[in-house]
Amino acid sequence: MIYFKTSNPHKFDEAKEIFKRYGIELGQIPETYREIQADSLEEVVKDALKTIENIGRGVFIEDAGLFIKALNGFPGVYSSYIENTIGNDGILKLMEDVDDRSAVFMSVVGFKGFKGFRDFDAMIFKGEVKGEIAFESRGTEGFGYDPIFIPEGYKKTFAEDFELKTRISHRRRAIEKLARFINPFINPR
Ligand code: IMP
Repeated sequence: MIYFKTSNPHKFDEAKEIFKRYGIELGQIPETYREIQADSLEEVVKDALKTIENIGRGVFIEDAGLFIKALNGFPGVYSSYIENTIGNDGILKLMEDVDDRSAVFMSVVGFKGFKGFRDFDAMIFKGEVKGEIAFESRGTEGFGYDPIFIPEGYKKTFAEDFELKTRISHRRRAIEKLARFINPFINPR
């Protein structure tokens, strides 16, 4: 069993589903972590890992963000603040007359392994999914920017197709790398 320190139930559900496929049970530590203001998700995660105490198990945190090309990567590391202030309607407004709708969702996972993991100090795993910003908000599943994000090669937003999201999302890609890494420690042959 390893632990995901997150106060976001959506993130936890997504992660639980992924670990299940590897036969790894996932526990939740429903708390936030220290988030410094920095230029990249990786810096935020690396700093926060310093505050994760040794609980004798593997623990990970995850920081994610939406980077919109036409807005020079905004909201990026400010994704949470922007979601809670101007929200999806605000983003759609900023994108009103913008033709290039390319965007990328990024996820950075930081893992600290203790007992049984040879004291891995701070492992970083990244995932991303390219896509486009929709012209209007669509769908009711997921959270955050899901209703305005259409992954490359598809027509539906993440909020319209949760199954698709859990299959190809940025979080899926980062967490899968972590799951593959720790699998031999949890399920030795
Ligand atoms: P956090 O700091 O990793 O919790 O994420 C920052 C913000 O990015 C969240 O408040 C959401 O608005 C947004 N976000 C992160 N991951 C996702 C996702 O998978 N779908 C939609 N929005 C997301």
